[in-house]
Amino acid sequence: MAAFSFFLFIATVSTLFATSSSSTITVNRNLTDGQTIISDEETFRMGFFSPTNTSTNRYFGIWYNKISVTTVVWVANRETPLNDTSGVLFLSDNGTLTLLNRTKNVIWSSNSSETGNNPVAKLLDTGNLMIRNSGDTNPDSYIWQSFDYPGNTFLPSMKFGIDFVRGINKNLVAWKTETDPSAGEYTNGFDPEGYPQILLRAGSEVRFNSGPWNGLRFSGMPNLQQNDIYTFGFELNSRELYYKYELVNNFTISRMILNPSGAIQRLIWIERRQVWDLYLTAQMDNCDRYGLCGPYGVCNIRENQACGCMRGFVPRFPDEWQRADWSNGCVRKAELGCADGGDGFVKMTGVKLPDTRKTRYNVSMNLEECERICLRDCNCTAYSSIDVRTGSGCLIWFDKLMDIRVYGENGQDVFVRMAASELHRNAEAKRKVRIIVIPVLVGFAVILGFCLFVFYKRRQKKKGITNLVREINFAIDNEREDWELPVFGFNTIANATNNFSDECKLGEGGYGPVYKGTLEGIEIAVKRHSRKSKQGLDEFQNEVKCIAKLQHRNLVRLLGCCIEEDERMLIYEYMPNKSLNSFIFDERKRKTLDWSKRYTIITGIARGLLYLHQDSRLRIIHRDLKASNILLDKDMNPRISDFGLARSMEGSKTEANTRRVMGTYGYMAPEYTIDGIYSTKSDVFSFGVLVLEIINGKKNRGFRHANHDLNLLGHAWRLYKNGKQLELMDDTIKGSYVQTQVNRAIHIGLLCVQKYPEDRPDMPLVVVMLGSQIPLPEPKQPGFYTERRRPQEADCSSSNPEWSSSNHLSVTYLQPR
Ligand SMILES: *[C@@H]1O[C@H](CO)[C@@H](O)[C@H](O)[C@H]1NC(C)=O
Ligand SMILES: *[C@@H]1O[C@H](CO)[C@@H](O)[C@H](O)[C@H]1NC(C)=O
Ligand SMILES: *[C@@H]1O[C@H](CO)[C@@H](O)[C@H](O)[C@H]1NC(C)=O
Ligand SMILES: *[C@@H]1O[C@H](CO)[C@@H](O)[C@H](O)[C@H]1NC(C)=O
Ligand SMILES: *[C@@H]1O[C@H](CO)[C@@H](O)[C@H](O)[C@H]1NC(C)=O
Ligand SMILES: *[C@@H]1O[C@H](CO)[C@@H](O)[C@H](O)[C@H]1NC(C)=O
Ligand SMILES: *[C@@H]1O[C@H](CO)[C@@H](O)[C@H](O)[C@H]1NC(C)=O
Ligand SMILES: *[C@@H]1O[C@H](CO)[C@@H](O)[C@H](O)[C@H]1NC(C)=O
Ligand SMILES: *[C@@H]1O[C@H](CO)[C@@H](O)[C@H](O)[C@H]1NC(C)=O
Repeated sequence: MAAFSFFLFIATVSTLFATSSSSTITVNRNLTDGQTIISDEETFRMGFFSPTNTSTNRYFGIWYNKISVTTVVWVANRETPLNDTSGVLFLSDNGTLTLLNRTKNVIWSSNSSETGNNPVAKLLDTGNLMIRNSGDTNPDSYIWQSFDYPGNTFLPSMKFGIDFVRGINKNLVAWKTETDPSAGEYTNGFDPEGYPQILLRAGSEVRFNSGPWNGLRFSGMPNLQQNDIYTFGFELNSRELYYKYELVNNFTISRMILNPSGAIQRLIWIERRQVWDLYLTAQMDNCDRYGLCGPYGVCNIRENQACGCMRGFVPRFPDEWQRADWSNGCVRKAELGCADGGDGFVKMTGVKLPDTRKTRYNVSMNLEECERICLRDCNCTAYSSIDVRTGSGCLIWFDKLMDIRVYGENGQDVFVRMAASELHRNAEAKRKVRIIVIPVLVGFAVILGFCLFVFYKRRQKKKGITNLVREINFAIDNEREDWELPVFGFNTIANATNNFSDECKLGEGGYGPVYKGTLEGIEIAVKRHSRKSKQGLDEFQNEVKCIAKLQHRNLVRLLGCCIEEDERMLIYEYMPNKSLNSFIFDERKRKTLDWSKRYTIITGIARGLLYLHQDSRLRIIHRDLKASNILLDKDMNPRISDFGLARSMEGSKTEANTRRVMGTYGYMAPEYTIDGIYSTKSDVFSFGVLVLEIINGKKNRGFRHANHDLNLLGHAWRLYKNGKQLELMDDTIKGSYVQTQVNRAIHIGLLCVQKYPEDRPDMPLVVVMLGSQIPLPEPKQPGFYTERRRPQEADCSSSNPEWSSSNHLSVTYLQPR
């Protein structure tokens, strides 16, 4: 017994010694089962392990050190497990790592052709085990590294690809099962034939094709987009070919794996929940199954029947095709007539490029040279450019075209060879269409002209609002640049609002009163700008310019305007439920807004703002987003209103500066209030404030708490830091909420109000984050989270139901410079 404890003691000490001493194995040290080695920053650990606690198989491998769930990233003897704990790893003096079993047989060895001179094996913080000569600092002159022989895991900073100099193709090979590291059915790696692409194979059969690199991403992986989690890149030269990614933050933990059932997945470690979350999968849908539609077939996931034939092709076996067996693909309607020199090309747009194994390429050629070369070679079936950023490079195909699918926006162009007769047929078809279409268009134009004439005549007498609405829609649909807003006469509006009577008054904005009215049975709201205010005039013109061209279900719709002498009025759809602040800040009405309604409102505002920032042609920054500027339609859908302060950002400009800082305290971002810099990110800040207000039911400005001096942002931040964010929720909706949704909304709100604009997500990301389960980064401290209040300001938060901003809250001041 005593002897046994002594033995245990020795074992413990030697383990301690091994773990604490260093991250290296030297020639004189042996590593036995039970001992482990840790990288310098303690990110990774290596040693002997069993895949499950019931298995007696022992493997030598590398796993994450700081993660509670043991996650193995590399295994040495994956095909040859030890059946007991007698394994020994040692480094021989020629630089070979060898794993021996009890009978001193070699179970596994790092068979490098290079020999060393006083070598050391070191476990790096990237998870790479590297053998090199001690003292050698050239990063490329190693003897052997585990990153050259990846298992099922592709780690950050690993070069996934082919090392032409050493002659190594670094494939991923899936495990047989989750608990058996031996080689499974699936492999994933670059195929060096033709222009390189990554092929996923089951045995020798291709199952998924990444497509060739197009300068931005792999042609068949449109979801490989710029993101906040990792950066990625591709390299192809005479020495090496690889794809690589690096994490943006060193606190994020992410890896890519090929799982036993052949899915290529990116996983992210979620510390809070202690799980690996799926971030994305390379194969998205059925159209990603290689060869589903056969040669010259085109897959389109939006069609009922996924497969179709390219233009100029018909199904090879129509019967099979009818039965949804598309694998034999399509054949040409007309054979190529190369010898006659009559062939041409048909352009396919927005597609994933065909399998590039039977291709040749030249990265410095341009598209015209490419066409010439392809035309000259009778075996060439198609060509395209290589780099979508510059449109340069030449890729030509010499075989049947396989694995094409339609993406639309994220797709590329490919030019498919076609017999001259087919080309002519297409041209003829076009001409036919023209013969039919032109008279129809002319007829339509005549009718339209007549309508407009009648409409104009009617407008001389009495304004027809239903027609006007129709005209607005028409004009927007046609995206006419020179479109003008319908104009109403003063008397029409005066009649509609009962001569601007007080009963019709809905509220008072910073620029003047808002009235309710009825025009031809349609309820309208009329914003009457005060006569004298110069600012009112500017805002009026601005609003007309901005909103006249916008249309989105989450934006309020402008029906027309009235300009007569010094009268300036805007006519909107009437919103029966007034503004958001008449609900969330009202003791009684807030109860009617349960969690699901509030969540719908949050996502609606996010979509409206996304449209303004990105999807509208004008790229508009609202600059005065707040609860009183969110109107609610009869179904309680949010509509963003009041574009008096909005600014359009031309082209690629993303940030601007103003000397007149205008907006509303409590919603304005720090960089805007202090430096006058506004950008889409300052709207994101206001959006974040709104989200927290909608959840909490109190105004950010004017927020009071018994225990501290923080405003609502500070309060939310504090609760979040203490893991008590659910306490932020409005008491009146405690019965209706979905905990994960509330947590996520608060988290996103806090991300939006971060102090520095570059930390805040942009609206496309916010919309994605709201609508998915992607992991969220940790928020940093909000901007303006403390606020010294004067009592009279706090009173401003009293809520009178109003149609627009209350003037004492919107501010304007000149920035001292
Ligand atoms: C390490 O192991 C090898 C092979 O088992 C053995 O020859 C050598 O003596 C061992 N070295 C030490 C320092 O234990
Ligand atoms: C093996 O692990 C499972 C789950 O972690 C645990 O429930 C079980 O008790 C363990 N078995 C042994 C023999 O340790
Ligand atoms: C391991 O395998 C050897 C040879 O096959 C065998 O003699 C030994 O009993 C096995 N050990 C265990 C623990 O199964
Ligand atoms: C290195 O040494 C080991 C054992 O000492 C031997 O098996 C192996 O062949 C040697 N490798 C080279 C490249 O010389
Ligand atoms: C050691 O490995 C050799 C070769 O793989 C094998 O024949 C032998 O049975 C193994 N010994 C033990 C104890 O597992
Ligand atoms: C060792 O070398 C052989 C032959 O060159 C090769 O097939 C094998 O994959 C190599 N093993 C490792 C682990 O490098
Ligand atoms: C993470 O990065 C920061 C800043 O780049 C650095 O100060 C810190 O030491 C890094 N932490 C680790 C664990 O690498
Ligand atoms: C690639 O194209 C350029 C420009 O046409 C030409 O100068 C070069 O020789 C070509 N390279 C190869 C390998 O064909
Ligand atoms: C075209 O392909 C055929 C058969 O694959 C081959 O015999 C012929 O030489 C090729 N022609 C050219 C110009 O490469």
